Amino acid sequence: MSKRFYITTAIDYVNGQPHLGHAYEKIIADVIARARRSLGQEVFFLTGLDEHGQKVQQAAQAEKKNPQDYCDALAVDWQNFAKKLELTNDDFVRTTQPRHKEFVQATLTKLNEAGHFYQASYTGYYSAKEETFLTEKDRLPDGKFDPSYGEVVELKEDNYYFKLGAQQQWLIDYIEANPDFISPSYRRNEVLGFLKNNTLEDLCISRPLARLNWGIPLPFDQEFVTYVWFDALVNYTSIAHAHPELGLWPADIHIIGKDIVKFHAVYWPIMLKAMGLPLPKQILVHGFWQKDGARISKSTGNVVDPVAIINEWGVDAFRFYVLRELDIGPDGNWTEAGFRSRYQAELGNGLGNLVNRSLSMLKRYRNGVVPARSNELAADAAKAADETRALFQQSQLQSALQSIWGLVNRANKYVDETAPFKLAKDPAQAQRLDEVLYNLAESCRVLAVLLNPFLPGTSAKIYAQLGLTGLPDKLAEATWGGLPAGHTIGEPAPLFPRKEV
Ligand code: ME8
Ligand code: MG
Repeated sequence: MSKRFYITTAIDYVNGQPHLGHAYEKIIADVIARARRSLGQEVFFLTGLDEHGQKVQQAAQAEKKNPQDYCDALAVDWQNFAKKLELTNDDFVRTTQPRHKEFVQATLTKLNEAGHFYQASYTGYYSAKEETFLTEKDRLPDGKFDPSYGEVVELKEDNYYFKLGAQQQWLIDYIEANPDFISPSYRRNEVLGFLKNNTLEDLCISRPLARLNWGIPLPFDQEFVTYVWFDALVNYTSIAHAHPELGLWPADIHIIGKDIVKFHAVYWPIMLKAMGLPLPKQILVHGFWQKDGARISKSTGNVVDPVAIINEWGVDAFRFYVLRELDIGPDGNWTEAGFRSRYQAELGNGLGNLVNRSLSMLKRYRNGVVPARSNELAADAAKAADETRALFQQSQLQSALQSIWGLVNRANKYVDETAPFKLAKDPAQAQRLDEVLYNLAESCRVLAVLLNPFLPGTSAKIYAQLGLTGLPDKLAEATWGGLPAGHTIGEPAPLFPRKEV
């Protein structure tokens, strides 16, 4: 059996409701997971929640709840959110689960016995908001810490450290020898620049119980809990370990945002090497969303509520917009006008109109019965299918959508060029009309297959309207000629209804 394709997302801090950035990342992972399944691979897709640490403890305190009850209540919302996005995750990790905590403790015991840790007194600064340690070097020229760190508190306390110093050179060599390990390449260059120009400081991996109790106790010293990032990163392996029959590790792709690259591309590889485990094949880094050109922030009210958008416009429109608008890498900007414009132009007038008029004409002029095969658009469909296949293998989702819309636009133009509504008025053109109707219906079928990972619901609707049973979830089905002559299609219905402004 070939190894499963193992894809993960960052696990989100459960200190509030999910926002656009969380949704975006999970949709990227879901589309890659579905695309790989469509390519015929077996896939394991993991997402979940990061429940320990100061940030979550403080959020629970603010609501006068004990942290576990607080997490349990919010975890329900987050799991419902995953369903709302139509994620096809195979598991959902919560770092408070025994299967995870036991694995973290076993890992800590092993590393401690192998001599990777030492105890020392720590002086430095801590950002609870980003759950990260800062040093004097992190100060801005004006002496302050970046506002994105929130409140930064000076600490003087005993802690355990993970030795990182000796690890720098092999990691540099590894990143240089494996150009796809960190993607896009500008993130890889940033990590290399950081490693080459700084000396790695040892990583503090504990918090004194007196200061923080919401964490996994260190197995070798009950006075401490585990630093939340050490705990969180291990989820990728604890859950692989929980499914031993699937042979999941090493992961094929970790999807993360640009703010947590150092944890994944520096600390995590070093932790894995110490654990005696191979490194993930790729760390794929996406950018940050803004709204109307400003930072998304609950306190200023500059937010996009994914659930409200999905309730109004449908989950496929939301999935389409975030992936079509923003390639994996750069930052993006959500605007209501931009969303509406893509909905109307690309989904409504583009895809929706193509499918609706193609199937309605087949219904009206041929009673819904598919005519003999014709190959006029076969090369265009093959081009879109070949490109999509190659782009899926490289996780190039925005480019895949552009390629698929190449076929949407070509087929719409073909309707305008061939004018089937005119052909229908002239009995001498019956054969020509048959050809046109076949090319259009078959293009719609191919589009349903190509679009399936992005717009699963829409893709299934197109198949059903074509009167086809089963799901268009295998890319191999995108081969031209799948619609048999004589087959009767189902009922056409608008896919993306027009919205009044
Ligand atoms: O960092 N646009 O959790 P988190 C795009 N628990 N992505 C965004 C974003 C935005 N505006 N804001 C956040 C954590 N993200 C840790 C991860 S993994 C072992 C532990 C992304 O809830 C962010 O980059 O702060 C990250 O990948 C994810 O959302 C969770 O962020
Ligand atoms: Mg964050």
